Amino acid sequence: MSFFGELYLRSTLPFLSEETTAKEVAYLARAFQELPVPGPVVDLGCGHGRHAARLNTTGPLAGRVLGLELDALSLRERLPGFPAVRADLRSLPFRTGSLAGAYAWYSSLFVFSDEEHVALLREVGRCLRPGGRLVLHTTPYERLASQPEASFSTRLPDGGVLEEESRFDAVRGRDLGHRRLTSPDGRVLSGRYAIRYYPLADLTQLLEFTGFSMCWVHGGLEGEQPSSTSTDLIVGAELRHG
Ligand SMILES: C[S@@+](CC[C@H](N)C(=O)[O-])C[C@H]1O[C@@H](n2cnc3c(N)ncnc32)[C@H](O)[C@@H]1O
Repeated sequence: MSFFGELYLRSTLPFLSEETTAKEVAYLARAFQELPVPGPVVDLGCGHGRHAARLNTTGPLAGRVLGLELDALSLRERLPGFPAVRADLRSLPFRTGSLAGAYAWYSSLFVFSDEEHVALLREVGRCLRPGGRLVLHTTPYERLASQPEASFSTRLPDGGVLEEESRFDAVRGRDLGHRRLTSPDGRVLSGRYAIRYYPLADLTQLLEFTGFSMCWVHGGLEGEQPSSTSTDLIVGAELRHG
C-alpha cells in the first residue's frame, strides 16, 4: 500500500473539514435509519474512522458499526469509539449472511481491477443478509471527464509540501495520479493511485450483476438528484433475496 497508509493520512487529514465529515455522517445515519434487517454495519476501508467513530457512538447505528481497514497505521491512529478489524476488502472476515449493511466512502472499493470489483461486490453480498443495505460514495465520472488533467502544489499546516498530478483516462474510466509529500525535515513519501470511476449506468449494471438492486441515487449529501454539475455520486443498494 504505497499510496494508502502514511502518505494518504498525512496528506488528506489536513484537508478533511469537520463540517464535511459531519454532513457525511448525517447522510449515512439517514441512509441506514430504517434498516430492515438486524446485525452489524461495516465501514469498508474505514481509514482512521471519521465516519465509523461517530456513527457507532450516537444515532440509529449506535453500537452496530465496525470498521474494516488494511492499513495498520490508520487503525493504530484511529479515532476512539468503534471496533475495527484489519483485513483486505477482497477477502472479508465475516460469516455468510451475518451483516445488515455496509458502506464505503471516497471510492474506497474501486481501486482494484474491474474483475476484482465484481468479486469484491459479490464478497460483500455474501456477507450481507438478504435485504441488507450497501451505500457507496464516489465522484461522478462526468466530473472527471470534464476536467481530465489536474495538478497542484500546496503547503501543509505543518510546513510540508504536497504535490500531485493526475490524469483521467475516460476510455478506461480510471484516474491515474501521483502524489508526493515532502516533510519539513526533508523526508519524502510518494505513491501512485489508479481509481476507477464508473458512469452511473455501468455502476448500476455492476451492482445488479453482483446481486444487488439499486434503491436510490443521489448527487449530493442533501439527497439531490444527480445532475451534470453534481459533486458526488452516492448510491444505495439492497442485496436481492434469493
Ligand atoms: C480513500 S480512503 C477512505 C478512508 C475513509 N473511508 C474516509 O472516507 O476517510 C480508502 C481507504 O481504504 C483502505 N484500503 C485500500 N485498499 C484496501 C484493501 N485492499 N483492504 C482494506 N482496506 C483498504 C485505505 O487504506 C484507505 O484507508
